[in-house]
Amino acid sequence: MNTRNLCLSAFFASIALLRSVSCADELTPINELLPVAESGRETIEFNEAWRFARFGLMPDGSQLAEPKRLESPLLDDSPWRLLNLPHDWGIEGPFRDDLPNRTGKLPWAGIGWYRKSFSSSESDAGKRVFIEFDGSMSGTTVWLNGEYVGEWPYGYSSFRFELTDHLKPGETNTIAVRLDNKPESSRWYPGGGIYRNVRLVKCHPVHVGHWGVTVTTPKITEENAAVQINTQVEGANDSTEVQHEVRAAASSEVVANKSGANCTIQIDNPKLWDLETPELYVLKTTIIQNGVVVDVVETTFGIRTIEFDADRGFLLNGNLIRMNGVCQHHDLGPLGSAVNTRAIERQIEILQAMGCNAIRTSHNPPAPELLELCDRMGMLVQVEAFDCWKSGKVPNDYSLHFTDWHEKDLRAMVRRDRNHPCVVMWSTGNEIREQNNEAGHAISRRLTEIIHAEDPTRPVTAGCNKPAAGFNGFEKTVDVFGYNYKPHLYQKFRQTHPRQPLYGSETASTVSSRGEYFFPVSNDKSKGSGGWFQVSSYDLSAPPWANNPDIEFAAQDKFPSVFGEFVWTGFDYLGEPTPYNNDATNLLNFSDPQARERMEMELKKLGDNIPPRSSYFGIVDLCGFPKDRFYLYQARWRPQLPMAHILPHWNWPNRVDKVTPVHVYTSGDEAELFLNGNSLGRRKKGEYEYRLRWDDVVYQPGELKVVAYKQGKRWAEATSKTTADAAKIDMSADRSTIEADGQDLSFVRVQVSDNEGLLVPRSDNRIQFAIEGPGEIIAVGNGDATSHQSFQAMDREVFNGLCLVVIRSRKGESGEIKLTAKSEGLQSAQITVKVKKSLK
Ligand code: GAL
Repeated sequence: MNTRNLCLSAFFASIALLRSVSCADELTPINELLPVAESGRETIEFNEAWRFARFGLMPDGSQLAEPKRLESPLLDDSPWRLLNLPHDWGIEGPFRDDLPNRTGKLPWAGIGWYRKSFSSSESDAGKRVFIEFDGSMSGTTVWLNGEYVGEWPYGYSSFRFELTDHLKPGETNTIAVRLDNKPESSRWYPGGGIYRNVRLVKCHPVHVGHWGVTVTTPKITEENAAVQINTQVEGANDSTEVQHEVRAAASSEVVANKSGANCTIQIDNPKLWDLETPELYVLKTTIIQNGVVVDVVETTFGIRTIEFDADRGFLLNGNLIRMNGVCQHHDLGPLGSAVNTRAIERQIEILQAMGCNAIRTSHNPPAPELLELCDRMGMLVQVEAFDCWKSGKVPNDYSLHFTDWHEKDLRAMVRRDRNHPCVVMWSTGNEIREQNNEAGHAISRRLTEIIHAEDPTRPVTAGCNKPAAGFNGFEKTVDVFGYNYKPHLYQKFRQTHPRQPLYGSETASTVSSRGEYFFPVSNDKSKGSGGWFQVSSYDLSAPPWANNPDIEFAAQDKFPSVFGEFVWTGFDYLGEPTPYNNDATNLLNFSDPQARERMEMELKKLGDNIPPRSSYFGIVDLCGFPKDRFYLYQARWRPQLPMAHILPHWNWPNRVDKVTPVHVYTSGDEAELFLNGNSLGRRKKGEYEYRLRWDDVVYQPGELKVVAYKQGKRWAEATSKTTADAAKIDMSADRSTIEADGQDLSFVRVQVSDNEGLLVPRSDNRIQFAIEGPGEIIAVGNGDATSHQSFQAMDREVFNGLCLVVIRSRKGESGEIKLTAKSEGLQSAQITVKVKKSLK
């Protein structure tokens, strides 16, 4: 595909129109009175009551031989553990010193078996029956009643297998699933297990195929939208009819209908999907065979245009939008990788509060729930396929499967996700190693081709870290070019390729620990930590390939045709604790020579077993608590929100009379800082400056206050006070009412406060929790990347004043949950979370 002067929506739209298939002209209302076949589609949630056992590498590091024929229906699996999916066996721990830092020091590697017996009714005879996995980590093989059904190696793909030929209608059937997570198969914590949802789907022989409905919106005006529908029907013959009905998701009002497998429906006065008003429509597709309804499928879609323009940037519905994006790994912190809709929703809420409007699903296809939420909440998404192609990054990664599987995985990704309005780009890979050779370019072209064939409406991109990839022809193999950590090359790329859209596919990689500050403060990005495996939160530290946020901001402002950035990362994630991976770069972190010496001795003692197990890259910590940097991004991404934020905290008993720099992040352009009422000067942001700095402040306890101005007018204020000693626990729940569906969560923030209710910055009290009522504590955490305490416990130390408790409802049990928090020497706290009957 020619990528010159891309105006992709228009370009792809014309292709889509050419490909459109003619359809029945007359409007055919759906006849609600048609008989419905008993053998019509039945979708059964298939998550409950699985038996589970581990073999091979065990959590404690020992080996347990895997017996033969574990798929046999005759096996007595009653001694196996009973559990519900989604399940991540890795997060259960324990953390182990001897396991690699980069994959979280958790025992996710090994073999896992899941088995489930279920009864199939006589009426299943003659139906087609499938099992659908949204994702299973990894190397999945499935048997039904002892017979092989299928396999799928990649842990991030969604797939389904047909069970029909092996099913015994009217009898008990046993499904067995074997997973095999090889050590050294990932650069981050992948988790282990059937970690996404599973369904059993029973269909009439004539039915909509897997991901068989495709909706595009090739032509949109204010008055009218053309909605083009392609339906792939399995088992269709001359007596098969296909009818479509579109309703507005919000009001349920039916707005259009039509018949024909492939047709274009006109929607009058379309409500566009936008970031502020993410309007959605639902397409109901009905398959009628000999006058009987045999299948009904619903597809959610949105009406919107996207355009990537080399000069102007990214346009949604014709409006220029800067992509203020973040990269996100798939794990959910203390919950591990087991998918949970509310946990993902909370992440999106926190990111949106910062002004983030885009997520890159680095470096793999996400859970479908993420995209459903982004559709509903108005968040753009770049869906990424792979972290490597043929040439691997770790010995047992996807490179082993690439040749045989890339096409299946790529098609699965696009087919599953192409109806989501939130998805605006596909990425074929991250920092793949073949950027610099012709063979790699050929692979890239092929991947782009596959995606274009499946979806001609969105551009293909890749995240490139090799400077040459922008100039050696690789750039021509993708539609939109993404540079990882190369703000210094934006100008050259733009000059060389005036017509190709460009963005920062991965930016910053600034590292910090929430609430940690080390002195002297250094502008040298390789210095600035120096605590016990923590990194200073002045937001100036970054590994050698990376930058602090301000440098990326400046480059984006100098070259505004760069349409945005995806910061590494929104949330901290499990694994990859740079700069404290177990290598020699550790010592580069120290600006204070004495601290460096202490660390050198510690490292000698520890050898390879250094403790960090989760990242320092997040703008938000592993528990969802914002770090200082959150406010630096908020100041830029939400310029109309009056806000100011001061760092560091102001409890420094050992720094009286010592220079203790104060930095302020504000959406204003100027600010005055006061210490105990005395002005320390009014400062203005210069050109390409994004933070205000008072680097010469001499510490005295008391109150720091900042008054920010915008265009000369008072705009926002913030204070930071020296606190008294820790006196009490304060708790607040993100939601005080949850649903009794066995999935819904309440995230409780637990703070150690002084008598006035101020967070005590360096507190590390251990808090003991007790819970009563219809709920359970499923995780605790505190954002400390070095902690090896279990996430599945009833107590937790606060880390710099905060910890998190995650409460889950029990299915079908409503009432009141009471959570109590106690700690020696502190006033206790109690909080109530209501659980209401679930409507699901
Ligand atoms: C990038 C890579 C990411 C992550 C990041 C850390 O090069 O694409 O996956 O490793 O570095 O800075």
